Amino acid sequence: MAIIALVSAKGSPGVTTSALAAALSWHRRLVLAECDPAGGSILAGYLGGALDGPRGIGELAVGELRDGNLETAFWSQLVDLDAPKRERLLLPGVLDPAQAGSVSPLWQRFADFFTGLERGVPPYDVLADCGRLQVGGPPWPVLRAAAIVLLVTRAHLPDLSATRSTIRAIQRDLTEHRVPPGTLRLLVVGDGHGTSEISKALGLPVIARLPDDPRTAEVLSLGGTVRSGRPLMRAAGALEVPVRALLDRRRARLAWPGAVQPREVTAPTTPGVSGAV
Ligand SMILES: Nc1ncnc2c1ncn2[C@@H]1O[C@H](COP(=O)(O)OP(=O)(O)OP(=O)(O)O)[C@@H](O)[C@H]1O
Ligand SMILES: [Mg+2]
Repeated sequence: MAIIALVSAKGSPGVTTSALAAALSWHRRLVLAECDPAGGSILAGYLGGALDGPRGIGELAVGELRDGNLETAFWSQLVDLDAPKRERLLLPGVLDPAQAGSVSPLWQRFADFFTGLERGVPPYDVLADCGRLQVGGPPWPVLRAAAIVLLVTRAHLPDLSATRSTIRAIQRDLTEHRVPPGTLRLLVVGDGHGTSEISKALGLPVIARLPDDPRTAEVLSLGGTVRSGRPLMRAAGALEVPVRALLDRRRARLAWPGAVQPREVTAPTTPGVSGAV
């Protein structure tokens, strides 16, 4: 169980779509956390705005700043993507830029809390959509806390060129913060240059490649019925395998004595989680 952060260099390569496609087919308990400072899009998009009121990381941040109640408020701010199972949960992102100001001083607090979720009872993986790194106030503490950072990129030259400089920025930051090496991987979306060519040119392994699948992407972006047999869903469903393998390898290799032991958090047995309708 772990935090897996997804981030992009620029443009809209498909971070949110890929994260949602993966979340909908994830085999373990999962929280999909929209940490993109530019705003969340799944509530209004895939879920068609189908909720009774404001919900998500912005509300959590306001409550935490006012009452310090993150632990108790967290579960009531989630949306069940697979109701009523409570196995795949969405923490919606900020709804308007004004909320981003409340969230940005709390990224470290959220990162610590997410780290606790992976050791919770029951444990949850956290897929964190961290948006574009070039937008102001990126959630660096979440990236630093992640066991794996997936840098999402399209496979054409302009995207790859922006991705190259972002690789350096992420690696520099993670090294400065003493994150053990080997965290960063590429997740390539769509057609263009070959996978091994991209990996060689950017000097970073590609963990997986997701196909261009506009029909499914549109459903994930705007709402509708997701079909598990579609190419994007099949590929996103398979993403968990190399992610898990990398996590296992890193844990076996690292077992770092200096690693901070995260606090445990316990999910409530009675749902405070609302079902997606
Ligand atoms: N695998 C895919 N095949 C086809 N279209 C895709 C795919 N993934 C994403 N898209 C489309 O690309 C557009 C951008 O996707 P998305 O919003 O997921 O990108 P993003 O990286 O999260 O962008 P932003 O940084 O603006 O949040 C959307 O129209 C989406 O439907
Ligand atoms: Mg996005």
